[in-house]
Amino acid sequence: MAVELIEQALTYVREKFEKEYSGHDYFHTLRVFKMATRIAQGEDADLETVQLAALLHDVDDRKISPETYENQANARSFLLTQGVAADRVDRICKIIREISFGGNSSTPSSLEGRCVQDADRLDAIGAIGIARAFAYGGNHNRHMYHPDIKPNLNMTKEEYLKSESTTINHFYEKLFKLTDLMNTQTAIKIAETRQAYMEEFVSRFMDEWNGNR
Ligand code: ADP
Ligand code: NI
Repeated sequence: MAVELIEQALTYVREKFEKEYSGHDYFHTLRVFKMATRIAQGEDADLETVQLAALLHDVDDRKISPETYENQANARSFLLTQGVAADRVDRICKIIREISFGGNSSTPSSLEGRCVQDADRLDAIGAIGIARAFAYGGNHNRHMYHPDIKPNLNMTKEEYLKSESTTINHFYEKLFKLTDLMNTQTAIKIAETRQAYMEEFVSRFMDEWNGNR
């Protein structure tokens, strides 16, 4: 039964994200699912709760589904259709709400939520994180780098959402901050190697930009 439920959720998100190329695509969800599974095992969290929350964490995303963002209606109706008990559905929806709230601010109240939040954040850093950042920048007509546009390290949430900054600035404005925001020991270890790799990347990028390498 449990394996079947995960299979159903995988099929549901694959269909849901079929036409999404925004960086919140099916493969992002799949990576978060795999990473959340690894973190949950390292932290002794409830595996099925973590896996379902990971699979459904973006189906009510503000950008993808603004009309269901507030109440997680897509995740909720999927789970209820699958016969998941109401209190379990509430717990999973709470995780989804807590990890998306404010983009990158609050700490989820459950261990399971902290595992999923870490997995989602890990997908924004390292090699995949670099690729996603430049894909996003290209999609939004941003400069890769511009010497006159400086990073703004203390943006409000509104400023962040409206920001037209460069992709290199995004490393300073968000990506380099994520390692310190990881909740679990399992994720902290993974984040540290990814962080070092990104720092090396930005340093080489600047060296090449300046003709020094
Ligand atoms: P989330 O908060 O779920 O990570 P976002 O929509 O903020 O979702 O980000 C999706 C992906 O796009 C992430 O990999 C993120 O780093 C990247 N991204 C978001 N904003 C920018 C930006 N201004 N410049 C470059 N990449 C960005
Ligand atoms: Ni996500």
